[in-house]
Amino acid sequence: MKLLLKGGRIIDPLRKIDKIADLLVDGGKVVRIETNIEDPGADIYDAGGMWIIPGLIDMHTHLREPGYEYKESIRTGCEAAVAGGFTAVACMPNTNPVNDTRSVTEYIIRQAALAGIARVYPVAAATRGSEGRVLSEFGDLKEAGAVAFSDDGKPVADSAVMRYAMEYAASFGALVISHCEDATLSADGLMNEGRISTELGLKGIPSIAEDIPVARDIAIAEYTGTSVHIAHVSTAGAVRIIREAKKRGVRVTAETAPHYFSLSDEALREFDTNLKMNPPLRSTEDVAALKEALRDGTIDVIATDHAPHSSIEKDVEFEYAANGIIGLETSLALSLNLVREGVLSPADLVRKMSSNPAAVLGVRGGTLGIGAEADITVIDPNRPWTVDVRIFRSKSRNSPFHGWKMEGKAVLTIVGGAIKYREG
Ligand code: DOR
Ligand code: ZN
Repeated sequence: MKLLLKGGRIIDPLRKIDKIADLLVDGGKVVRIETNIEDPGADIYDAGGMWIIPGLIDMHTHLREPGYEYKESIRTGCEAAVAGGFTAVACMPNTNPVNDTRSVTEYIIRQAALAGIARVYPVAAATRGSEGRVLSEFGDLKEAGAVAFSDDGKPVADSAVMRYAMEYAASFGALVISHCEDATLSADGLMNEGRISTELGLKGIPSIAEDIPVARDIAIAEYTGTSVHIAHVSTAGAVRIIREAKKRGVRVTAETAPHYFSLSDEALREFDTNLKMNPPLRSTEDVAALKEALRDGTIDVIATDHAPHSSIEKDVEFEYAANGIIGLETSLALSLNLVREGVLSPADLVRKMSSNPAAVLGVRGGTLGIGAEADITVIDPNRPWTVDVRIFRSKSRNSPFHGWKMEGKAVLTIVGGAIKYREG
């Protein structure tokens, strides 16, 4: 089947392309990018006024399968992904059982293939059971298809274990993704520690609970000559430490999520449990620092940290509510706000949401190369829409953005040349 995308703005920072042109997909591959392609045998999609970009890649998704399919399944997570413009997601290992064995990694890959919607790249646990004590079988897991190692959801508290994880991963050419949290400092905290937590009388999580392990992991990467990726950066302190480390040539990459630059702890006054996540929403100063870090390249990636929870976990007192929000279907629109604010150029947005996550994970995609697999997202950058969680593809509804007026949406998501989502 041939598909001809006509007259869109093709943005591919890796190939330094930003021009109005047509793009022809044939046999699952991108075969031509030119002005005025004619092909009578192709299905035509009018992409006038749209952006045609390499498929978005989310390197931080919780798909909840196996074990918590009532929150999300691999299939519903993938449906949400393509509706949000993502052609691929990397899924975190805090399932039940934890993805610390070949059989779980293979199960995820098999379920994703059966669903046949988006590409799914399993991230395996760095330690057995994500308990932070004994390393998992990196070689075996990598061979099974794991693209990275992380105990996300929990920190690796023991510095020696983290050091061995990073060295062991390096020997397999693999990456460790670090959930940076000093649990002795975050303890039973419910929100960012500061003026607002004091006003609300909620126990706070200080920014140093994040800054300290970020500094530690960077020190380990520098000392051992390995690399590390810092998940969900939320503080100005972490940004400063990462920026300085990059200047020294340390191999550190970092991500943040749209909620951390779209909301601050001020929002917590509503006591909406959909504003509870880990790390927590931070101060307005932290939000400003994150935007600067996205602008200057300190933060490489925008990831969703899509964390579905059911009403059982969220419709409870703030203290007892689970951490996390869904993000696959709102991430692009919230990130497009940064383009409108002048924080990111359109090409920067494509870097943060496609090219950089592909490079960090070492997976395909991130570019519209001729002959490459056709993983493509078509965006209407100006389309107005209102977030309505009731019609989301995700099985869960825990978004603080319900009712928000958005501008910009994925209208066509193509994976391997096949249309997996089409707006309207
Ligand atoms: O808010 C969060 N939710 N942070 C995490 O680190 C884990 C995630 C989850 O799995 O729900
Ligand atoms: Zn995490």
